[in-house]
Amino acid sequence: MGHCAGCHGINGVSVAQQTPKLTSFELFSKTDENLFEVVRSGRDKMPPYFGILGDQDIHDVIDYVRTLH
Ligand code: HEC
Repeated sequence: MGHCAGCHGINGVSVAQQTPKLTSFELFSKTDENLFEVVRSGRDKMPPYFGILGDQDIHDVIDYVRTLH
């Protein structure tokens, strides 16, 4: 909510430009490791959360993202 909703929206339906929906089919075909890397290290406009969220927090947030479909 605090870290991610500013771009990805509360329900994973993006509110910022060029931010992908976190409810898309492609996302569910990606592995937890892929998603973990994006959140941890960032990619393009997606900011890195290394040092902000611990590994366990990132795994928890990915489990949450997986419920958004
Ligand atoms: C500043 C806006 C912003 C914030 C804040 C943000 N993201 Fe993102 N996110 C993006 C953008 C933009 C992309 C697309 C990156 C790209 O083009 O490769 C992205 C990509 C992603 C992806 C990959 C989607 C895919 O299809 O591979 C995931 C997962 C993700 N974000 C989760 C999160 C989570 C979880 C948080 C909070 C910890 C978060 N994001 C915070 C902007 C943001």
